[in-house]
Amino acid sequence: MADYLPGFGNHVATEAVAGALPSGQNSPQRVPFGLYAEQLSGTAFTAPRAENRRSWLYRLRPSAGHPPFAPYARPGALRTAPFDEVPPSPNRLRWDPLPLPETPTDFVDGLFTYGGNGDVAAGTGMAAHGYAISASMVDRVFANADGELLIVPQQGALTLVTELGRIAVAPLQIALVPRGVRFRVEVTEPARGFVCENYGALFRLPELGPIGANGLANPRDFEVPVAAFEDRDAPVELVQKFQGRLWTTRLAASPLDVVAWHGTLAPWRYDLTRFNTINTVSFDHPDPSIFTVLTAPSDTPGTANCDFVIFPPRWMVAEHSFRPPWFHRNVMSEFMGLIAGAYDAKAGGFVPGGASLHNQMAGHGPDRASYEAAVAAELVPHRLRDTMAFMFESRAVIRPTRWATETPLAQPDYDLCWDGFAKARLP
Ligand SMILES: [Fe+2]
Repeated sequence: MADYLPGFGNHVATEAVAGALPSGQNSPQRVPFGLYAEQLSGTAFTAPRAENRRSWLYRLRPSAGHPPFAPYARPGALRTAPFDEVPPSPNRLRWDPLPLPETPTDFVDGLFTYGGNGDVAAGTGMAAHGYAISASMVDRVFANADGELLIVPQQGALTLVTELGRIAVAPLQIALVPRGVRFRVEVTEPARGFVCENYGALFRLPELGPIGANGLANPRDFEVPVAAFEDRDAPVELVQKFQGRLWTTRLAASPLDVVAWHGTLAPWRYDLTRFNTINTVSFDHPDPSIFTVLTAPSDTPGTANCDFVIFPPRWMVAEHSFRPPWFHRNVMSEFMGLIAGAYDAKAGGFVPGGASLHNQMAGHGPDRASYEAAVAAELVPHRLRDTMAFMFESRAVIRPTRWATETPLAQPDYDLCWDGFAKARLP
């Protein structure tokens, strides 16, 4: 049997034990084998059909069975909206990669927050996190009631052991864990990456407009895990993020005990190298929205709460054009990270695992070396190889945390990459 089923938001039905899925209804009086039926809602019951996401889980025990939560005592660098630790400055920021931890650190304790926006209580906004971990979660699971988690590995593979199945995800792939789904992160080597926490409307594929019925990220390339469960009667800590704080409680058995499930809400993974990249074959550098993998809309049409955008390997063929990203100032705010290789608008300083933040109306663009190379280049067809950058782009200013502002990873001389441009010469 395959480990994954294809599809994005379509209806999936999967059972780890033959006969576990009820036939013809969601919650029969007696579920096969005495399993407990439980609906997990990712959208309001009444969300429009095209946006509605929910799944029915059939499990060994109800998820309701747990003692009260208590505050999680260990201090960390995970932060949540409202982001008001330090006043946001208009400065452009760039960071060296997070160092891998020297002591055993798991996913819960290895999360760092660069910044974010919105209001978690109101269900708007997003956060940009990084993680640097060296240990698997053992006898504990995590769940985030505040939003869905889009995980972008940069170094080292992860195994996400979720209620709905197991997902192996490596650099150049991404994975999403829906709001509320309990999961454990396992590693066999130190790992680093990024996480977009989306407090708002769920990520979905962008509309394609005149591109047509195919292209960009194709739905069939999203992989949903088949049902897999643990029948393990041993104490497990459940750490839950709720309204920005971590809480902990103790379960008597593994909560990853869903034997069968069906529905439209599920974790998934996606291989970024399958992105069908569309670009100009005539002139100019299109707006980077052409590289949108996923979008989480806001209540303003065309103005995302958060877009997830990638800059993959591709052919550059534009004639008589400046081919790298142009200089610009954007009403949207841009958090970028480099997964692999080099980025075509930066000659140095933006290394794999590194990140940058260009907030609303911050002037940015190619550094001087990249600019000078681009205006001197012979414009033959050229393949950009060995590159994969991404962007979390949001309608609201991504307000940095105190950690992001004060960490020695922040590059104090980032502005210098735009220093020394020669003045244009008028006739
Ligand atoms: Fe930009």
